[in-house]
Amino acid sequence: MASSSIPISQSQAFPTKTYPKAFLSTPLKNPSPQFGVFPSGSLPMTSVRGKGAVLVVAAAAAASSPAAEIPKKRYPGEAKGFVEEMRFVAMKLHTRDQAKEGEKESDAQPIGKWEPSVEGYLRFLVDSKVVYDTLESIVEKAVYPWYVEFRNTGLERSEKLAKDLEWFKEQGYDIPEPSAPGTTYARLLEELAENDPQAFICHFYNVYFAHSAGGRMIGKKVAEKILDNKELEFYKWDGELSQLLQNVREKLNRVAEGWSREEKNHCLDETEKSFKHSGEILRLILS
Ligand code: HEM
Repeated sequence: MASSSIPISQSQAFPTKTYPKAFLSTPLKNPSPQFGVFPSGSLPMTSVRGKGAVLVVAAAAAASSPAAEIPKKRYPGEAKGFVEEMRFVAMKLHTRDQAKEGEKESDAQPIGKWEPSVEGYLRFLVDSKVVYDTLESIVEKAVYPWYVEFRNTGLERSEKLAKDLEWFKEQGYDIPEPSAPGTTYARLLEELAENDPQAFICHFYNVYFAHSAGGRMIGKKVAEKILDNKELEFYKWDGELSQLLQNVREKLNRVAEGWSREEKNHCLDETEKSFKHSGEILRLILS
């Protein structure tokens, strides 16, 4: 599980050169990312890390152009779309043993060494279902009209989890009641969906995309250890997963095109919270 307690390093990758004040542009309202700029005419892609986001500043225009006086601030991934920005922030919150791009120190056993139990895994599946039920009912209800975009994406997990829990029941296992990690997260998601849509979208992205990446790896390892390699429905998608993810990426990018930079930063800043809550649910596997 990715740790969420330690803030992201603010000390790395700061450009070694200093640049005249004249090149500094208006600071962002969000105070966390630090930024630097570069002499006009160069197109550096040096990054400056701040809490939860990295800002890359490119001053590309020729010195003779008036536009050169307003250097364009670039966030990592920005050129590819907002999802790439969210991914960039998320990847840094992984520990080094979880993912290559992770920057956090490992704070727990690597999943290869996990000793899961079926009971703990059931607690994880039950609480995951609470979260997916909530996400899927939020987009059905669509308090904000653009949540409608995220209905029937093919990434939904609620029905799949219901089938898996049914299977465990048939095997003679008791299905536990939902516990605090799942119910607390579900309440937060409901609250954000109504009052803070940018933050909600951050959770939406992280929950579905994390499951398609690290979540699948975890499922495979757990199945090897305690389920005789049985592949649960939770880890199966109808259709090509890469295409389903790409469709959702495009929708997320389109929605975020309408956001101000401040709203985007607010969304990126929510990533740590998403890791915290998903982390608590993942830890149930070892409970
Ligand atoms: C033990 C826990 C975890 C492991 C082992 C893990 C591992 C991974 C790996 C291997 C990737 C793919 C990296 C790549 O594209 O090269 C990934 C991607 C990702 N993870 Fe995690 N992860 C974990 C937990 C989390 C959590 C708690 C979250 C957030 C709630 C999260 C969010 C993401 C996101 C958003 C991506 C990008 C997916 C994409 O680009 O399609 N991960 N993770």
